[in-house]
Amino acid sequence: MMTSNNNDSELYDDVQGDKNDMGIEEHEYDGIKELDNPPPGWIMAIFYLTIGISILYGAYYYWLKVGPNQDEEYARAVEKAQVKYASATPEGVFSLLTDEASLNAGREVYAAMNCAACHGNAGEGNAIGPNLTDNAWIHGCSFDEVFYIIKNGFPTKGMTAFKGQINDEKISQVSSYIISLKGSNPANAKAPQGQPCE
Ligand code: HEC
Repeated sequence: MMTSNNNDSELYDDVQGDKNDMGIEEHEYDGIKELDNPPPGWIMAIFYLTIGISILYGAYYYWLKVGPNQDEEYARAVEKAQVKYASATPEGVFSLLTDEASLNAGREVYAAMNCAACHGNAGEGNAIGPNLTDNAWIHGCSFDEVFYIIKNGFPTKGMTAFKGQINDEKISQVSSYIISLKGSNPANAKAPQGQPCE
């Protein structure tokens, strides 16, 4: 009713002063007025922040494609898991490689994984690790045995386990490379250790 509405307005006038300062909108329908009641500044700040974040997110993952999408992330996780949980032995899938490309790849693995720190640049051995170029082997000279020792290491004797760092393919390449060094007679070769390879 108009009268009570007027009374309300007077009440506001009495208590709060000018009604426009109160945030009451000018329009009025059937005695109903609208109170403009904006949310507090901090809520608006968070609201605008979420819009800003969504723009950055979209640019990073969708438009500029800097970040990995879920398929790429999945592929990466699978690759990591394969390196980590691949079997300890080659399982017949990997065998001695003799082609030049594989042996070169093995040489690169030898350099990249810093095997030289313990076995010398040419595999001649040093104060830490044994000579890998002679006919004497502590852990056996077959491809599978060499593969196994590189993959699983011998931590109590100072040989690092390389599983979790390189995959089986790389281990088979570096194993083949080492076997190819046999008889290369590098300078400063360390005295033989272990059993002669039959
Ligand atoms: C931190 C030092 C260290 C690093 C790095 C290292 N090795 Fe060894 N490695 C050793 C030691 C020490 C032994 C001897 C273990 C023993 O006496 O049982 C050994 C043993 C071996 C053997 C067995 C030799 C035998 O006579 O049976 C092979 C093969 C081998 N390492 C290859 C590698 C390859 C390939 C790399 C790099 C991918 C590498 N090692 C990196 C220290 C190392």
